[in-house]
Amino acid sequence: MYDETITSAKIMIIDDDIGMMDVLTAILGKYGHKISSFTEPVSAIETLKSNSFDILLVNYLMSPVNGDRIVELVREFNKEIYIILMSSHKDLIPSIETITNLDIQAYYEKSARFDQLILLIHSGIKYVNQVIRIKNMSIQIEETLPDFANVLLNTVEAKDHYTGDHSYRVSKYSEVFANYLNLSEEDTKSLILAAMFHDIGKIGINDSILLKEDKLTDVEYENIKLHTIIGANIFSVSNIFKDASPAIRGHHERYDGGGYPDKLKGDDIPYLARVLALCDTFDAIVAERPYKCATSIPFALDQIKKNIGSQFEPELAKEFIAMVNKNKKYIEEATHYSKPEKINAKNIANKTKE
Ligand SMILES: [Fe+2]
Repeated sequence: MYDETITSAKIMIIDDDIGMMDVLTAILGKYGHKISSFTEPVSAIETLKSNSFDILLVNYLMSPVNGDRIVELVREFNKEIYIILMSSHKDLIPSIETITNLDIQAYYEKSARFDQLILLIHSGIKYVNQVIRIKNMSIQIEETLPDFANVLLNTVEAKDHYTGDHSYRVSKYSEVFANYLNLSEEDTKSLILAAMFHDIGKIGINDSILLKEDKLTDVEYENIKLHTIIGANIFSVSNIFKDASPAIRGHHERYDGGGYPDKLKGDDIPYLARVLALCDTFDAIVAERPYKCATSIPFALDQIKKNIGSQFEPELAKEFIAMVNKNKKYIEEATHYSKPEKINAKNIANKTKE
């Protein structure tokens, strides 16, 4: 029995044997597949570039370009299409090595009976349907990601109200800084995620330490430091979030090696952790905290300048200062942000770079 996807499969055949092409078109057409046939490869490849097909049937021996070369050319721009390489010349069949090294899914030796080919086409259609399902699942995961992120953020905020607002502001600075530094989409997404959740490990720290208003003892401070490792571990188990994990772990490292948890130095500190450290510290200085008043942006930038080379990577710190000065109005507004009840999905899901 066919389902909807199977009957609507689009198949391209490239074969310079017109007689064989007609036979294949007739047989496969009977199964409800849409067939496009080409006797010469150049126009076939051009058509493949601008149209979507599910399955490609390509003959091995053809002139001027053989099937194996056509496969290579197609794979340069299309990794998904299910390719069946066909051969009819018993003594000129491709070697096992050629078949294995080619990025094809199946090989068919032509014969008077077409049962085997029909079976291969069926396997191809199953493969195509699986790819479609995986794609749909990825879209669903991507769509639910913001909701999941909101749940996580609210969890942190329930534990420590200050952390929710602070993390939200740090994510805002990170977004602008990523744009200023021209980071890749992937790095931008990882940085924003890491910024939003850099202190998520605090959910693993005892309230009596986390919310203590008096000065922390040495042991308590050692406990607080663990939030970097706990947070990174939480994120490292998720395929979607794991790229943000190194920045979360390293956001309290110092350029001179005096930070924590790994006492990394200079370029050994993951790049996004160095970027995040600037955004995090900036907010820690400008924002009001239970134990200190808010300060001005020039004062915060001055503090960053004083810590160039010790706490911060020199070049990156200079870039950060330049970024704040270039986006003064936005950054000034952002320093007063509180975390909205529900954060904007775009910030997390769409790998944004405005
Ligand atoms: Fe932190």
